[in-house]
Amino acid sequence: MWKRPDTLLGATPNSVTVRRLGRHAPSSPASSARFGCRLAGNLHDQNVGDAVAIGQASAEHARIGPEAADALAHWRDFPTPPADIGEEMAATLADGPMEHAAENGHTMPVKLAGKCVLITGAADGIGAATARALVAAGASVVLVDIQREKLQALEGALAPEALAVAADVTDTAALASAVAAGVERHGGIDVVVAGAGIDAIAPVGEFEDATFTRIIEVNMLGTWRTVHATLPELRRRRGYLLVISSGSAVVQGPYEAAYNASKAGIAAFANTLRLEERRHGVSVGVAYFGLVATEHGLRSVNHPLMRDVFARAPRLLRDAALQAAPVDAAAAALVRGIERRARRVVFPANQRLAVALASLPQALLERIVRLG
Ligand SMILES: NC(=O)c1ccc[n+]([C@@H]2O[C@H](COP(=O)([O-])OP(=O)(O)OC[C@H]3O[C@@H](n4cnc5c(N)ncnc54)[C@H](O)[C@@H]3O)[C@@H](O)[C@H]2O)c1
Repeated sequence: MWKRPDTLLGATPNSVTVRRLGRHAPSSPASSARFGCRLAGNLHDQNVGDAVAIGQASAEHARIGPEAADALAHWRDFPTPPADIGEEMAATLADGPMEHAAENGHTMPVKLAGKCVLITGAADGIGAATARALVAAGASVVLVDIQREKLQALEGALAPEALAVAADVTDTAALASAVAAGVERHGGIDVVVAGAGIDAIAPVGEFEDATFTRIIEVNMLGTWRTVHATLPELRRRRGYLLVISSGSAVVQGPYEAAYNASKAGIAAFANTLRLEERRHGVSVGVAYFGLVATEHGLRSVNHPLMRDVFARAPRLLRDAALQAAPVDAAAAALVRGIERRARRVVFPANQRLAVALASLPQALLERIVRLG
């Protein structure tokens, strides 16, 4: 029998009660969110000792989703009283992003105003477009890249919200300096977009060792080093990491073995990290892009070897694969992903089926595995 949540909120909150409350939670995402938030406020008022477990359980039973569950569970760390947070979250979650979030299994929209986002690969292409979109949304940015001049031009264009730090993502010390400079300038780092990436086209049998190694160094080890340098900050701010992978992490064509391996590698790395960091309040997402109209993207598909592959493909598949999405639309997809703290950002839509099928076992695992 359905009961008004308000009448149940007065109950003694222990995990059994919470479970019972969960069963009575209203089913629409927005009202569930409101219910969970009010429950969190109620727990705070009653000064419940085991608020972490109860907050988590309540939010999950109210079907709010794991990120919001974490936020509720860690209400102690919020600067304002949790009852207010509850109202604020309820309002935000009821606002629309919740529906997206519910579809994708993520919640807790991030308001970008006042947040600091560190972006690697920020001087050009998707990284630069994302920096512009984030600043337009009210965030500040730390721009990291090896292209010093382009980086400085972008810093000037986005002043005073941008700080440019020339650094190679394979260089641990340079990344540490970039993080320190970002923290000094903006007070902390809330979000990291690990986007620096390179590619080269050749059959495996003819790949130069130095080229293959460099691709793995930048794409794979560069992502690891970016995470290594920024994770303490992300933990401190209960932040969000978004790793830029590719559709080639789940479906691999010929001639890009190093790139494909690196993009599959960082997706696997990020999935592992997500499970580990949840308890620290850090969310981790992976972006799976199809072809985006940047110099890098277009150079790859226009390589004679790739042209030959596409020429042999069925027309429908070829047309879909070669349709380059606008870079600003790709950046907008990343910004939405950051706002939702999404586990997956899939863009453009023609990537969705492959990513959804490949991600299914991982999504199931993430429902089961909860590290203490
Ligand atoms: N464009 C596409 O079609 C497409 C598709 C799937 C995935 N991606 C991924 O999206 C990301 C951005 O791609 P893009 O198309 O904007 O490429 P891009 O070449 O325009 O931008 C990549 C940026 O990374 C920087 N970079 C390269 N090596 C670096 C290093 N060692 N340290 C710091 N910065 C370094 C470059 O200077 C450049 O500014 C890449 O990771 C790419 O693999 C792109």
